[in-house]
Amino acid sequence: MSRLNRYRILTLCVFGALTISSLFSQSLPWMNSSLSPDERASLVVKEMTLDEKITLMHGTGHEGLGPMSPLSSGSNGGAGYVVGIPRLDIPGIQMSDAAYGVRASGKNGRYATALPCNLGAAASWDLDGAYQYGALIGRELRDQGFNMSLGGGVNVTREPRNGRNFEYLGEDPILAGRLVGQIIKGTQDQHVLGDIKHYAVNDQESGRNAVNVNIDERSMRETDLLAFEIGIRDGNPAGVMCSYNRVNGEYACDNKYLLTDVLKKDWKFPGFVLSDWGAAHSIAKASSAGLDHEQPNDYFYGEALKKAVEGGQVPMSELDEHVHRMVRSMFAMGVIDDPPHKAVIDVMGGLEIARQIEENSIVLLKNDKKQLPLDASKVKTIALIGSHADVGMISGGGSAQVDPPGGNVIMPPGKRATVWGHPVWFPTSPMKSIQAKAPNAKVTYNAGTDLNSAADAAKAADVAIVFGSRWESEGQDSETMSLPDHQDELIAKVAAANPRTIVVLETGNPVTMPWVDKVNAVLEAWFAGSNGSDALANILFGEVNPSGKLPITFPKSETDLPHRTIVKPPPHTEPEPRDPDGWKKRLEGLPAFQTTYDEGLKIGYKWYDAEKKSVLFPFGYGLSYTTYTYSNLKATAGDHVSVSFTVKNTGSRAGTEIAQVYAALPASTNEPPKRLVGWSRVKLNPGESKDVTVDVEPLFLSVFSTDQHAWQRPAGEFTILVGGSSQSLPLKATASLK
Ligand code: BGC
Repeated sequence: MSRLNRYRILTLCVFGALTISSLFSQSLPWMNSSLSPDERASLVVKEMTLDEKITLMHGTGHEGLGPMSPLSSGSNGGAGYVVGIPRLDIPGIQMSDAAYGVRASGKNGRYATALPCNLGAAASWDLDGAYQYGALIGRELRDQGFNMSLGGGVNVTREPRNGRNFEYLGEDPILAGRLVGQIIKGTQDQHVLGDIKHYAVNDQESGRNAVNVNIDERSMRETDLLAFEIGIRDGNPAGVMCSYNRVNGEYACDNKYLLTDVLKKDWKFPGFVLSDWGAAHSIAKASSAGLDHEQPNDYFYGEALKKAVEGGQVPMSELDEHVHRMVRSMFAMGVIDDPPHKAVIDVMGGLEIARQIEENSIVLLKNDKKQLPLDASKVKTIALIGSHADVGMISGGGSAQVDPPGGNVIMPPGKRATVWGHPVWFPTSPMKSIQAKAPNAKVTYNAGTDLNSAADAAKAADVAIVFGSRWESEGQDSETMSLPDHQDELIAKVAAANPRTIVVLETGNPVTMPWVDKVNAVLEAWFAGSNGSDALANILFGEVNPSGKLPITFPKSETDLPHRTIVKPPPHTEPEPRDPDGWKKRLEGLPAFQTTYDEGLKIGYKWYDAEKKSVLFPFGYGLSYTTYTYSNLKATAGDHVSVSFTVKNTGSRAGTEIAQVYAALPASTNEPPKRLVGWSRVKLNPGESKDVTVDVEPLFLSVFSTDQHAWQRPAGEFTILVGGSSQSLPLKATASLK
């Protein structure tokens, strides 16, 4: 073909494409991507029939949570599916749980990477890492054909026995809020709708469908809600999932204060509120309170809502606003202009990211006699004991569960599925990873079920590494903070047999450690994800210097907690497990029982500080194989407070120090003794010093005024404290703010 002909054909093609696209945007003007998401949404909502609007207001069912509609056949196999409107080119919404990776891959015959659990990743205090975390989830959702994530859990830890804390980001609202903002951003940058949950004060699993949480406004705004406020501001999620519980007398999904006054008016949230699965409880009340969308079915927001609109109980303008919020979010996040295309997941890339995040998340809690790192050239025999360390590492359950490739590694062969309510172990074998690091050592494994044989195995080795694990899951809280199944006895027995004992914990919450004085070293590896064992081995042998710091306090005992026990629902509050109408009874509302968060502002380290209770390991704590010093603090007062200081690596290994900035507010504010207001991850070579500046924004120095219903930055003397943990703050300065 001549050059001229090629040019003519090309011109025709370009002209043709432009004509088609301009015809298209004339007939479907909302497909014009140069308009704003709100303009596009207004144009399309105007064209919708009442039935089409109602379609977008609900899901299509979920096994066990009510009937499936015939329309659910279009679902991609995730937890939620909203039918689209092909006539108007509005796609359906395919939602998948995705707390630490994409859920439900097993039954769909797909693969997903399990990242370290959210609480673990929070121990990295790494905003870039959090973005990578969210971006990986977004990519894998798209590859699987989903366009919405149901991740973004950020309930701050008020109760360290809450079975879902592993899905959240710890006890500090500023740390948790900033991290979740980056996770959401990472996900949404892949053109997947993001979510933040469970809004709000859903801080215990016990009786979650019935409990009424009593909490005063200031405490709520400065603790649980602050994490959401920052996460929504930084991450701009499409969806906010309202929770199962009641808050101050109203179900969260019926709660005008939470959904309209705070979320939509005060925070100017432009996206949509979706109910947790079965957490909607009414039609007109929920609609006027601000619930935009019901999941997983259409009990209230289907035919019943249509009738309520026709009968005038729900104004059409209110329905239009709900629909507008749904559609504008789809335009804003690019799920309409750039829909997902199924693709093969980047398995190797995912394993790499999961390993790096875990390396930054493992916390070295104790290291006496420089027990760690191990020297592969010297150690001859290593005894691994307990927690299936020969084959795998444990993961967190419930709707966060990611399915391991090949199935649960400790299930009998042939039963490869993961089952709700049963612990799932990933095929990431500490034994294999450790053996690979120390090829000349003899590495043995003992299950730890027989204490004497475990002690014999430990005695026969140079080093004993005992693994302590505790499974956690949605739908249940732990009674205590102990390791279950006699593991405390096992660890004590091993420690007595071998003075060079290292404990590796795989937990999604703090645990008590009655044996802590008897062992040389303790590592908290959390729920370590798909590639946890390689990360662990890199830390054990010093290829990676530990840098993680606790995002949650490890108390000494349950008696030190604000509440000795978790309030449980009275008998018969919940429907019987086999009641076929149980789902309906929950939707119609269970009798309330009360829990009162009278510790108020004092959650996590703020409680232990204020009550002067000593703890096992404090918030912000974590050791390294090197040491750091702090000097030269300056705090410059202004609109933002600028805090600068110097950190020096005084040891002989390169490392990353998480330098933390706390503020004590003026005494007149009656705040807990101090709060975290900023931090910096400082990478330092041996002997190197760096000047660090942390900018503290006014919100982080503010108090919520219940008279003004607004944040106010008090005037007066602020004490700025800097150091390597909430209880090691060698630098102190004052900043006088007007
Ligand atoms: C959980 C949510 C989850 C939803 C869908 C609910 O039980 O609380 O976190 O997103 O189920 O699976």
